[in-house]
Amino acid sequence: MSGTSDRAATRVVVVPGGPLLVEGPVEVVLPNGTVRVADRPVVALCACRRSRRYPFCDTSHRRRARADRSSARPGRQG
Ligand code: FES
Repeated sequence: MSGTSDRAATRVVVVPGGPLLVEGPVEVVLPNGTVRVADRPVVALCACRRSRRYPFCDTSHRRRARADRSSARPGRQG
């Protein structure tokens, strides 16, 4: 074997503060041996560990970012 393949490389896009976008379909093997399958063209894998659908992203990473932003602002007067 030469170590090369005719198969195209799988593209993984790292979203800053968000998920890893992987070209699907994918099979994800969890530490306990469970296999989760997603057949979408692009699958978002959770990198923050906050997803209730782990290993898939459920956008929970966004809620944390908004909370951080609003708490960083000084109090607004209305
Ligand atoms: S990266 Fe989106 S919920 Fe974790």
